[in-house]
Amino acid sequence: MGQSQPSIITPSLLLLLLLFVILGCRRADARSAFACGGGATGNLPFCRQTLPIRARVRDLIGRLTLDEKVRLLVNNAAGVPRLGIGGYEWWSEALHGVSNVGPGVHFGGKFPGATSFPQVISSAASFNASLWELIGRVVSDEARAMYNGGQAGLTYWSPNVNIYRDPRWGRGQETPGEDPTIAGRYAAAYVRGLQQPYGGRSGYYRLKLAACCKHYTAYDLDNWKGNDRYHFNAKVSKQDLEDTFDVPFKACVVEGKVASVMCSYNQVNGVPTCADPNLLRNTIRSEWGLDGYIVSDCDSVGVMYNSQHYTSTPEEAAADAIKAGLDLDCGPFLAQYTEGAMKQGKLSQMDVDNALTNTLTVQMRLGMYDGDPSRQQFGNLGPQHVCTQAHQNLALEAARQGIVLLKNQANALPLSRSHYRNIAVIGPNSDATVTMIGNYAGVPCRYTSPLQGIANYARTIHQVGCTNVACSGNQPIEAAVVAASKSDATILIMGLDQSIEAEAIDRVGLLLPGRQPELVTKVAAASKGPCILVLVCGGPVDISFAKNDPKISAILWAGYPGQAGGAAISDIIFGAFNPGGKLPMTWYPQQFVEKVPMTNMNMRPNPSEGYPGRTYRFYKGPVVYPFGHGLSYTRFTHSISQAPSELTVRLDGRKAGSENSTMLNSLIRVTHAKCEGLIMPIHLDVKNEGDWDGSHTVLVFSRPPSSSSDHSPPQKQLVGFEKVQVFAKSQTRVTLNIDVCKDLSIADNNGIRRIPIGEHSIQIGDLSHSLTLKAETLAI
Ligand SMILES: *[C@@H]1O[C@H](CO)[C@@H](O)[C@H](O)[C@H]1NC(C)=O
Ligand SMILES: *[C@@H]1O[C@H](CO)[C@@H](O)[C@H](O)[C@H]1NC(C)=O
Repeated sequence: MGQSQPSIITPSLLLLLLLFVILGCRRADARSAFACGGGATGNLPFCRQTLPIRARVRDLIGRLTLDEKVRLLVNNAAGVPRLGIGGYEWWSEALHGVSNVGPGVHFGGKFPGATSFPQVISSAASFNASLWELIGRVVSDEARAMYNGGQAGLTYWSPNVNIYRDPRWGRGQETPGEDPTIAGRYAAAYVRGLQQPYGGRSGYYRLKLAACCKHYTAYDLDNWKGNDRYHFNAKVSKQDLEDTFDVPFKACVVEGKVASVMCSYNQVNGVPTCADPNLLRNTIRSEWGLDGYIVSDCDSVGVMYNSQHYTSTPEEAAADAIKAGLDLDCGPFLAQYTEGAMKQGKLSQMDVDNALTNTLTVQMRLGMYDGDPSRQQFGNLGPQHVCTQAHQNLALEAARQGIVLLKNQANALPLSRSHYRNIAVIGPNSDATVTMIGNYAGVPCRYTSPLQGIANYARTIHQVGCTNVACSGNQPIEAAVVAASKSDATILIMGLDQSIEAEAIDRVGLLLPGRQPELVTKVAAASKGPCILVLVCGGPVDISFAKNDPKISAILWAGYPGQAGGAAISDIIFGAFNPGGKLPMTWYPQQFVEKVPMTNMNMRPNPSEGYPGRTYRFYKGPVVYPFGHGLSYTRFTHSISQAPSELTVRLDGRKAGSENSTMLNSLIRVTHAKCEGLIMPIHLDVKNEGDWDGSHTVLVFSRPPSSSSDHSPPQKQLVGFEKVQVFAKSQTRVTLNIDVCKDLSIADNNGIRRIPIGEHSIQIGDLSHSLTLKAETLAI
């Protein structure tokens, strides 16, 4: 054999190699500076943290060529290497946990997953605003940690706060429901949690993340009977816009101080929202004072030219969008056509600079021009801050709080572990994992499926009954019936998934799909013990058959409960947690969708056309379960301990000069009233009469005076809500402050906010309290 060759890898080479490996790893999991990382460009004025952000932005824009500028108008923004600026992907998502739906987020390596909270419709069902903010804060920590590790961005296009107008909407699951007050509160709370503004020197609050409220506005149809969102023209009255569709967006901007708003694909009254200066420039930016950027939905500038043929050239579409107030395009369109639009004189340099000012300011507020991210605020956040036990516990807690007990015949629930040792677990969602996280999800830390959760409490006999949620054709129903007949109790886990309701998929009916009802009915009939129906779905289903079936003892709506959903469901079934969720949307019967076209945007009924109106605010017809419905294992009662029965609305004499005396006696323009401090405090005692500790949500509705009936106001409107924890056999006091101008005003027929003078009826459960508003003109 040949002589042994001396190894070419000498110790010093080995060391060098090792160093390369270590440095290589460093590079892979720590983000280097996006800009201003040192070198020659690090001293330019736009990098100087001592200068006001405004001045830094101006300096930077002054250095950019037109070519460089237009390539910053799109989500996949090109770098400017000569100025030491990297490329940036604006599109990241974090609807209910860091999500990889957008190209800005990558799981893997040191970040294999992130905490997956319940889908938003489920979190909304908790009616717990502090929970919403807390979830936002946790997501913010995990997102910032992933940014530091080079696997996520800082700009998140969440939350979705469109009103859940029609029960068929495939994206209703992403929203906080049908009520504008809740949606507004949710928007502000979640955005505060995600953004966590700090500082405030140099003219602007700094941001931990930049959130985005989407999709502005009147977007709540994806694809229904040949009508799709890319072509749909939503015909919306000024009144519905003011008191329904715009409410959550206004709260998001004004109260949540969001850093971004996204315009939608659809047109509103013939104009694409992303090309409507009235919506973008006037409403969002001027009236509400957005301090941030406006982004298009993905490819929606292209859509207005290619699909809607709204403009005759692509340059016109680019110009219309930017002039309307759009600052950033999700899609390549603006990078392709903006220069041409300028050459054709449709757009000025100033228009483009204004757009860039809005996006670059947000990047600066995020610290992207402050050099090495590891040396900045939040620079310490890393992989050890993602999927922590505390975060996963909050995902479980949120899932428990979001589950709604719809029916509990003869207190069948909770099941006692000692009585029910063998449980038949049946249904297409019985061992659900990915179904539980709904859409706009990421990769969760782990899952607990319903079957796994139940197995922690009892011996299980598992039969799917339906092999998938569509449940058509041959199905193993008989085996499920046999399992139920042999067990002490039966838990059916039915519902929907993203094959039935999703982005681009609206439903046509509200019934459980295929043979699911048959499975439920047969299994219930064969069950030896109690039969519990659990619905895993985002949208409402017409389960009247189960509601009316005495063999079905209890019904739970679990929504899409997130990674810990199965644990939460079983904790409720076996009494480790007392349910307190309430429905954030009306559960209509199937007949509703048979007579109401999804394309009819009107919230208000039109009796002459047989149109019944929408949501608990306007619809008076039969329901399967009403908005706000939700039972508990205990019994709560309330009484008003103190609330004013009369308040005076003072008019600002100068502004109210144009109000004539008729108006004075009935409806006062909000802009003419002295609103500051005009609140109605309601002190309420909530009593837990039962044997279980529990949480109760107080819902305060108001019904405006009959003097406003010419303006078809809502039959009632939620004006306040508060969740309180009350121990068994004890009582607690809660105070709600109702803002007269904001909450007790109505939108008149022209969409103008007015305060109805006269008797408002305040309703809390079965209590009713009368509040009389009087008007008084101030001397000038
Ligand atoms: C007062 O205003 C109402 C509502 O705008 C209008 O119908 C009425 O004609 C006005 N009356 C007078 C005297 O101007
Ligand atoms: C609201 O959620 C938070 C966070 O989980 C929880 O600590 C609090 O008890 C909840 N409030 C009520 C009244 O249940």
